[in-house]
Amino acid sequence: MSRVTPGDIRAMKRRGERIPMLTCYDCPTARIVDSAGIPLILVGDSVGTAVLGYETTVPVTVDDIIHHTRAVVRGTSHALIVADMPFMSYHPSQEDALRAAARLIQQGGAHAVKLEGGSVVADTARRLVECGIPVQGHLGLTPQSVFQLGGHRLQGRGEAASRRILEEARQLEQAGVFSLVLELIPAPLAQTITQALSIPTIGIGAGPFCDGQVQVICDLLGMDPEFKARHVRRYANLAEVIRGAVSDYVGDVRDGAFPGPAESFGLEPSAAATGPTEER
Ligand code: KIV
Repeated sequence: MSRVTPGDIRAMKRRGERIPMLTCYDCPTARIVDSAGIPLILVGDSVGTAVLGYETTVPVTVDDIIHHTRAVVRGTSHALIVADMPFMSYHPSQEDALRAAARLIQQGGAHAVKLEGGSVVADTARRLVECGIPVQGHLGLTPQSVFQLGGHRLQGRGEAASRRILEEARQLEQAGVFSLVLELIPAPLAQTITQALSIPTIGIGAGPFCDGQVQVICDLLGMDPEFKARHVRRYANLAEVIRGAVSDYVGDVRDGAFPGPAESFGLEPSAAATGPTEER
């Protein structure tokens, strides 16, 4: 099956087809996500908080995103892979942004990049698009600005703030971004933006009226039982599944129940004992 393109994502909005998007950071998970039919995967800088143990996304580097993007690309054949441009990799100058985006595409194998912000990055987004790099925008709560925003809070509250986000969404559309993430804004504002733009909006904590939805995969799968956020729906409780499997293993090793004859070689003349050492 051929790769999804930015044009395909835009066409989904024209057809009124909702767009599911998920973050992903490693090859085996990417294989599963891709085979489940997700058209758009984000190698988000949320890798910093979800996987690498940082408190914010700020410490994540271009090298980190390249490393994880390569793994995700290797595990997929269908989804369009968007690589996040990390903190300060695109603000100092357009040349810096071009160089960082080029590395994410050439070395990481990404098919598009995402950057956070509105008027401040619109010209940079335009330049990347002019140079042939598909760009996804990101407005509302922009986690790389967490220190300025004072936490992960709902954005776009009140007339002036919502007007500004709508205006910046229009600027990004004019700059040529192929889609726009809207994070933690009131649902009616996300609806207004979605109706005002011809490009798809992808919401996270932005209500049901966006053209698509994105979630951090570790939240959706329940990898961190401590993490709770109103915008997350937990579809599985993998923390419990993994804890259960690991404690069964610990018990079996302690009791001498693992490995048994079936997992050993030379204990009995069965196919299991003489067959291949691994199966896929
Ligand atoms: O890094 C990330 O996971 C993101 C999503 C929350 C959109 O930017």
